[in-house]
Amino acid sequence: MTGLFITLEGPEGAGKSTNREYLAERLRNEGIDVVLTREPGGTPLAERIRELLLAPGDEPMFVDTELLLMFAARAQHLAALIRPALARGAVVLCDRFTDATYAYQGGGRGLPIERIAVLEDFVQGALRPDLALVFDLPIEIGLARASARGQLDRFEQEGRAFFDAVRSTYLSRAAAAPERYRLVDASLPLTEVQASLDDLVPDLIALLAARRHG
Ligand SMILES: Nc1ncnc2c1ncn2[C@@H]1O[C@H](COP(=O)(O)OP(=O)(O)O)[C@@H](O)[C@H]1O
Ligand SMILES: [Mg+2]
Repeated sequence: MTGLFITLEGPEGAGKSTNREYLAERLRNEGIDVVLTREPGGTPLAERIRELLLAPGDEPMFVDTELLLMFAARAQHLAALIRPALARGAVVLCDRFTDATYAYQGGGRGLPIERIAVLEDFVQGALRPDLALVFDLPIEIGLARASARGQLDRFEQEGRAFFDAVRSTYLSRAAAAPERYRLVDASLPLTEVQASLDDLVPDLIALLAARRHG
């Protein structure tokens, strides 16, 4: 594997999609092959699973169903898109990945962490993101930005306690493995958030070069 796997994490409205585009452009300007993708989704079949996961419906979805659909979509995404891209040396910028499963299904829904870890090992083997950018901001700001987008999805309709748990799970995971996470203060104006991503670009280029030669 000679590419780099970078994920963008954080709650709704944190700026993941906006900054994913920005970072992609910065890396492409350096001549780097960049693949932009997202979870749940990223392939046609996985996007169909995404629709099942996000659409508010009449039949309540059980937490285990939600967890297994997340990992079913992930298995497809890894095999069809992420692993081949990493194998050819691309930088994969993925909007949410397994940290989101820990935050939403673990923190938010209260599923035992061990159950998620078993599926993580099963579906991913040893593959973990090289770096997760955690876009952190107060819940109200994120929700205000997200609701300005229009109708809320099944997760966005959750309450305050759910989002508190999501945020604290992200923060504790980042604190537990600082070498694999970078916290981004997503409450700052966009230009300042982007300046912090600019600072990251040389590190990413160096990491990619080390991958290719080592
Ligand atoms: N730092 C920021 N300050 C103010 N508004 C922002 C900032 N980052 C993103 N936005 C705006 O907030 C909204 C949600 O951003 P988006 O990138 O879609 O978030 P996410 O993908 O994390 O849900 C968009 O309208 C975007 O333009
Ligand atoms: Mg987004």
